[in-house]
Amino acid sequence: MQYRKLGKTNFNVSEVSLGTWQIGASWGNVSDQDAERVVHAAIEKGINFFDTADVYGDGRSERLIAKVLSETSEQVFVATKAGRRLQPHTAEGYNHENLSAFVERSLKNLRRETLDLVQLHCPPVEAYYRPEVFAALDELKLAGKIRHYGVSVEKVEEALKAIEYPGVATVQIIFNIFRQRPKDLFFPLAQQRDVGILVRLPLASGLLSGKISRQTSFAPDDHRSYNRNGEQFDRGETFSGVDFDVALEAVEEIRRVLPDGTTMANFALRWILDHEAVSCVIPGARNEQQVIQNVMASALPHLTAGQMGALAKLYDTRIRSLVHQRW
Ligand SMILES: NC(=O)c1ccc[n+]([C@@H]2O[C@H](COP(=O)([O-])OP(=O)(O)OC[C@H]3O[C@@H](n4cnc5c(N)ncnc54)[C@H](OP(=O)(O)O)[C@@H]3O)[C@@H](O)[C@H]2O)c1
Repeated sequence: MQYRKLGKTNFNVSEVSLGTWQIGASWGNVSDQDAERVVHAAIEKGINFFDTADVYGDGRSERLIAKVLSETSEQVFVATKAGRRLQPHTAEGYNHENLSAFVERSLKNLRRETLDLVQLHCPPVEAYYRPEVFAALDELKLAGKIRHYGVSVEKVEEALKAIEYPGVATVQIIFNIFRQRPKDLFFPLAQQRDVGILVRLPLASGLLSGKISRQTSFAPDDHRSYNRNGEQFDRGETFSGVDFDVALEAVEEIRRVLPDGTTMANFALRWILDHEAVSCVIPGARNEQQVIQNVMASALPHLTAGQMGALAKLYDTRIRSLVHQRW
C-alpha cells in the first residue's frame, strides 16, 4: 500500500482507502458480520482511512467502525459527514447549533473525544455562500471537537467555491472514468491550495467493475433500484448519473483496452490514482473480497499513454455530453 498526504490535514493516508456507506444501509442487506469483516480486512491490508457519515444506516456505519476499531490497536483516521440529518435539508440548517449537535452524536457513535475530519454532506449550494457555516466549523475546531473539516460536493463549482475558505482541508468529489471534469480546473487549484481530494464513486456504483449487466437485479432497498433517476437524492450519486444502457456499452469498450490479468475494478481505480492531485480513492465494499481486491490497485503499474488516450476518447465520445455540464 502506498500512502499520500491528505492536504492540510497532513494525515498520511492509504491511497486506496475505504468507503463505508455499504455497511450502513442503502445497498441491500449487508450483515453485521460481513460489515465487520470488511473493516477488519481493510485494516489488515494497510488501509488507515475510512469515510463514513452520520446518516449511513442512521449511525450504523459509524458504530460498526467504532466497534471494530475498539478490537485493534491500529491507528485509523475516520472522516464522517454532517448535515443530512436536517429535515428539511436547507442551507440555514447548517448553523452552529445543529452542526454541534451532529458532531456530538458522531463523537458518541465513533467513541471518540475528537473527530479527525468532518465533511459537510453535500449541502445545498447556498451553504457555500454563507461564511457563517465555515465560521461554525472553525469554532468546533477551536473547541477541540474536530481536528479538521472539509466538504463533500456534488458539483465542481461547489468545490471551487468551498476552497476559497482557508479552513477547508479536504474536498470529497465524484471522479472516475465516467466523470472526468474535476481534473480540468479543480484539481490544479486544489493542489495549489494544499486541499486534500477524496474520490468517491471510483467504480461508478459498481459499473466500472465490469460485473453489472442488464440482467443484474438489485434489492429494493439498494439505491441502484430506487435512485436511478434521482428519486431520493442527487442522480449523480447512483451510477455516476450516466444512463444505464449507455454505461453498459461504455464498459464493453473499456474491456477492450483492459490489460491481461488486471480486473476492471483495479484498472478503474488505477486510472484515478494516476492523477497526482488525488489523495485517496474510497471505494465502497460489501464484503472482504472486494476490499482485498481493491487494495491491489495500489501496486499496479501506471496506465500507458495509449490506455489513457483510449479512456479520454471514450469519455469524449460516449459520456461527456451526458454529465460534463451537470456536475
Ligand atoms: N454524498 C457523499 O458524500 C457520498 C455519496 C456516495 C458515496 N460516498 C462515499 O463514497 C464511497 C464510495 O462510493 P460508492 O460506494 O457509492 O460507489 P463505488 O465505490 O463506486 O461502488 C461501490 C460498489 O462497487 C462494487 N465493488 C466494489 N469493489 C468491487 C470489486 N473489487 N469487484 C467488483 N465490484 C466491486 C460493489 O458493488 P455490489 O454492492 O454490487 O457488490 C460496491 O457496493 C461510499 O462508500 C461512501 O463512503 C459519499
